[in-house]
Amino acid sequence: MSTFIKGLEGVVVAQSQLSYIDGQAGQLIYRGYHIHDLAAHSSFEEVAYLLWNGRLPTRAELDELKHQLALNRQLPNGLLTLLRSLPTTAPPMTVLRTAVSAAAMFDPEAEDVSLEASRRKAIRLAAQIPTIVATYERLRRGEDPILPREDLDQAANYLYMQTGQVPDPENARALDQYFILLADHGMNASTFAARVTTGTLADIHSAITSALATLKGPLHGGANQKAMEMLQEIGEPDNVDAYIKRALAEKRRIMGFGHRVYKTEDPRATVLRRMSKELCQRMGATKWYDISRRIEELVTAEKGIYPNVDFYSASVLYVLGIPVDLFTPMFACSRIVGWTAHVLEQLADNRLIRPRAEYVGPKDLKYVPIDERA
Ligand code: SDX
Repeated sequence: MSTFIKGLEGVVVAQSQLSYIDGQAGQLIYRGYHIHDLAAHSSFEEVAYLLWNGRLPTRAELDELKHQLALNRQLPNGLLTLLRSLPTTAPPMTVLRTAVSAAAMFDPEAEDVSLEASRRKAIRLAAQIPTIVATYERLRRGEDPILPREDLDQAANYLYMQTGQVPDPENARALDQYFILLADHGMNASTFAARVTTGTLADIHSAITSALATLKGPLHGGANQKAMEMLQEIGEPDNVDAYIKRALAEKRRIMGFGHRVYKTEDPRATVLRRMSKELCQRMGATKWYDISRRIEELVTAEKGIYPNVDFYSASVLYVLGIPVDLFTPMFACSRIVGWTAHVLEQLADNRLIRPRAEYVGPKDLKYVPIDERA
């Protein structure tokens, strides 16, 4: 049995061809392509094809994937009925976890764990998750859900379903780039959860339910919402110094900072910082970028830790008009591609994932009948 490593820090649990992270150099690569190149030149749909299939698509292949996603965005009636029955005050990640779990019951291939069926279900899940999020948002506001449009890509269609307006192309492109940046990230906690579930040959809806449940935590996908709540609590750039100094003095975690693997700047934060500056300036909301920049200066100087993907995501999603408690569901709208790509990779060469625990409790105790216990 190997030595106990708390939190599995640095432990290699799989070989994968999906994404490569260099924590020292601050690099992220999907299937051989640097994230900076993909964020600048690609689209979320093209990155989805790349992660699922191992190469960039031809134009015909990309058009076919977009067509498949558009065909599968609308929710089954039974799922819509379920969403209508949920309390409007439920945490959106709880709703999303519940709805994806329930979606299996409306998918004719739910119990088919073959690679081919799982590949088809991966596309259906990627298509349905943004619709679930936007539909719940409309229902909890007392508004009618807006049906997805077939002529809009994933990012533009999400913004349309949430607001009823076809989005400004620059805003749609910003959300598309956000989706590219968060699509996959090696063996993060929620991906690991999906692979452990798949390792038992449970179906892909079960694996994605595990991933969603895991993403919800504030140490992982929940950090973007917490980071925005911190920006809102600070309110103005002049308040940053006092807030951060007090938070650090109280040993509080600054949400959106630090990373288990990156020991330098998260390359996604580099792109998101630029996006935040451009978006906040264009939307006349520069204070959110200014507050973020000042927090980064202080925390990096004081703690020697860097912003991760969730920090500048906060101001980007906020100025795009995403409600703050939908930030983690936005993360899920992107990471569904990585999770499902890992499920397919696990299925293709599966072995049950079953580590050990080092027992440190007592041994050989004598059983005492209850009437003789003190
Ligand atoms: C994501 O794994 C992935 O790839 C995840 C992700 C992805 O794409 O899937 O990148 C997405 O989840 C990003 C992380 C989002 N979470 C947060 O922003 C929450 C705040 N960050 C931390 O709690 C922390 O940095 C973690 C959880 C991200 C990493 O934790 P580790 O590797 O277990 O590090 P640690 O808790 O042992 O901290 C090491 C030191 C400690 O100092 P000491 O107590 O030993 O003196 O760094 C300090 C920590 O106190 N530290 C922080 C800090 N993060 C680490 N101090 C203040 N604020 C922080 N945010």
